[in-house]
Amino acid sequence: MSGKGLPHFAVGRIVKGFGRGSKELGIPTANYSPDVVENLPKNVDTGVYFGWASIDRGDVHKMVMSIGWNPFYQNSQKSMETHIMHKFPGDLYGAELRVVIVGFLRPEVNFDSLEDLIKGINGDIENAEKLLENADLAAYRTHKFFTEPIDPAQLTS
Ligand SMILES: Cc1cc2nc3c(=O)[nH]c(=O)nc-3n(C[C@H](O)[C@H](O)[C@H](O)COP(=O)(O)O)c2cc1C
Repeated sequence: MSGKGLPHFAVGRIVKGFGRGSKELGIPTANYSPDVVENLPKNVDTGVYFGWASIDRGDVHKMVMSIGWNPFYQNSQKSMETHIMHKFPGDLYGAELRVVIVGFLRPEVNFDSLEDLIKGINGDIENAEKLLENADLAAYRTHKFFTEPIDPAQLTS
């Protein structure tokens, strides 16, 4: 597998983030509540990851995810922000987000400008689109996790 502690399966409701950037970036992100983030294996480092995601048990789409320290929680709490490569009508607050994180893309970067951040994320999206075509990683799209009511804690592959 392409990273420590991966694949990682997670399920939870989408909560309001700080709403600082994603709308201006044109790259909406869905935030998990802290309890979902707490279930991340300790050896999953901060950085940018990719995998598969579904909303309310709907179709499974490609996703990229930023895992980072949230200063509002005094660096004791990681946040997980998912961008799904699919256009949804309206916002997704309160919806159930299921993800499987299958690989690591890069560490977090302190970009100098909003423009560079957008370029960086668009590069992540391009890379994830390609990597997820790999048969081993594409197989997770049809994993029973997305179709059956399974506790993600029981899943390791
Ligand atoms: C795929 C992806 C990669 C990201 N990479 C970085 C990064 O390298 N550095 C960074 O400061 N923020 C990164 N972000 C976080 C964005 O800055 C963040 O989503 C945006 O500022 C919105 O923040 P908000 O939810 O607090 O409004 C990334 C987000 C995504 C979805």
